[in-house]
Amino acid sequence: MTKKQGTLYGIGVGPGDPELLTVKAVKILAHVDVVFTASSTRNTFSLAVDIARPHLPETVDVRHLSFPMTQDKEALKSAWRENSLEILSVLDKGKDAAFLTLGDSMTYSTFGYILQDIRDVRPDVSIVTVPGITSYQAAAARMNVPLVEGEESLLLTSGAYGGGNVRKFSDCAENVVLLKAYKNVKDITRALAESDMIENSRAIRKCGREGEEIIEDIRVLADREPDYWTLILAKQGRKKDGM
Ligand SMILES: C[S@@+](CC[C@H](N)C(=O)[O-])C[C@H]1O[C@@H](n2cnc3c(N)ncnc32)[C@H](O)[C@@H]1O
Repeated sequence: MTKKQGTLYGIGVGPGDPELLTVKAVKILAHVDVVFTASSTRNTFSLAVDIARPHLPETVDVRHLSFPMTQDKEALKSAWRENSLEILSVLDKGKDAAFLTLGDSMTYSTFGYILQDIRDVRPDVSIVTVPGITSYQAAAARMNVPLVEGEESLLLTSGAYGGGNVRKFSDCAENVVLLKAYKNVKDITRALAESDMIENSRAIRKCGREGEEIIEDIRVLADREPDYWTLILAKQGRKKDGM
C-alpha cells in the first residue's frame, strides 16, 4: 500500500567533505525515492550531489531543479513555484524526497525559499529539515580558530554588496563572519581595516574541497580575481600567536 503523501527532507550536506554529513542525513539519503538539487539554468552540475554521492544508493532518482542566477524577483518567484510543484508531484505519489543544500539548509540557502513556497501552496505537507555543518563552522575548525569565546558576539553577514554591514554593526560584535566575500571583497577589506579587524582576519577558499586555500593576510584578496567560494573570519584586534 502506498502512503498518502511523502515527506520532503531538507538536507544540509556540509561544506565539502562527505564525512561531514550528519548520521541522520546519511540514514535519510539511504531510503528516499528522489533526490532534488538546485542547479543553475546554465548547467546541471551539482556540488551538493557530488558531496552526498557516497551516501546515495546507485539507483536513486536524482533530479536537477534549475534556478536562474538573477535578481529579478518575478523570475525567481516563478522558478520557485515551478520547482515547488515538481517536488509536490513526487510527494503526492507517496514518495519521499530529499532536497540537498551545501552547508546548512537554513543558512543562505535555496531550500529556505522552496520551503516557504511549498508552505504557501500546501501548508499541510510534511517537511523535515536536517541541519548541516556550515562553511564557516568548517572554516573555523580547519584553521583552529574559535568563532566566539566567553561573552563575545558574532556577526554573520553576506559580503555580496561589500563591507556595509561591517561598518554598521562591527561595534556590536567582536567577531564577524562574511560569506559571499567575492565580487566586492575590496570594499570588505576596506571596511575591516576601518573597524580595526583587518589584522585579525583570515579567509579560506574552497574549505574542505579540492583547491582549498587558507589566506592569512586578506589584503591580498583585493588584487585577485574574485572567487565565489571564499569566506572571511574576522576578529577585533591583532592575531594572537599560534592562531
Ligand atoms: C549561498 S551561501 C551558502 C552557505 C551555506 N548554506 C552554508 O551553510 O555555509 C554561499 C557562500 O558560502 C560560502 N561557502 C560555502 N561553502 C564554502 C566552502 N567550502 N569554502 C569557503 N566558502 C564557502 C562562500 O562564502 C559562498 O559565497
